[in-house]
Amino acid sequence: MHGVNFDVLGSRNAEHYGGISLTELEVKIKQFARGLEMEPSFSQTNHEGDFVERLHRAGESADGLILNPGAWTHYSYAIRDALEVAGLPAVEVHLSAVDEREEWRRTSVIRDLCIGCVQGKGVDGYREALELLKARLQ
Ligand code: DQA
Repeated sequence: MHGVNFDVLGSRNAEHYGGISLTELEVKIKQFARGLEMEPSFSQTNHEGDFVERLHRAGESADGLILNPGAWTHYSYAIRDALEVAGLPAVEVHLSAVDEREEWRRTSVIRDLCIGCVQGKGVDGYREALELLKARLQ
């Protein structure tokens, strides 16, 4: 689940996000998932309420979650509460090393609900997240 500003990922600071587009990112995630015999489905929204409602319904179609909520990570208690409602194993992912950037990015309001957090590994971080999820689901 991609959060806010991921629709324009390719236009964002390449130093932090690698200059990759969302479509390119999803192609890579699909390749990683295929190698792990997992079936990903994707969503992106810039609207917090939509993200919340997708979390409410996630259990209908998914066994686990990989979330990169973008800036919402750092302050959205609404998304935190909805993740609790989802009740699925979840991994928090960030392309950049959020714990080494500005002070405000070092807070995550979802981290303690997640089975792991992968950050600063770019696209490859999603493979690690899939592996964590797979290990938890087996
Ligand atoms: C991000 C890090 C967040 O701090 C930022 O707001 C993003 C992207 C990442 O993937 O590194 O939108 O989640």
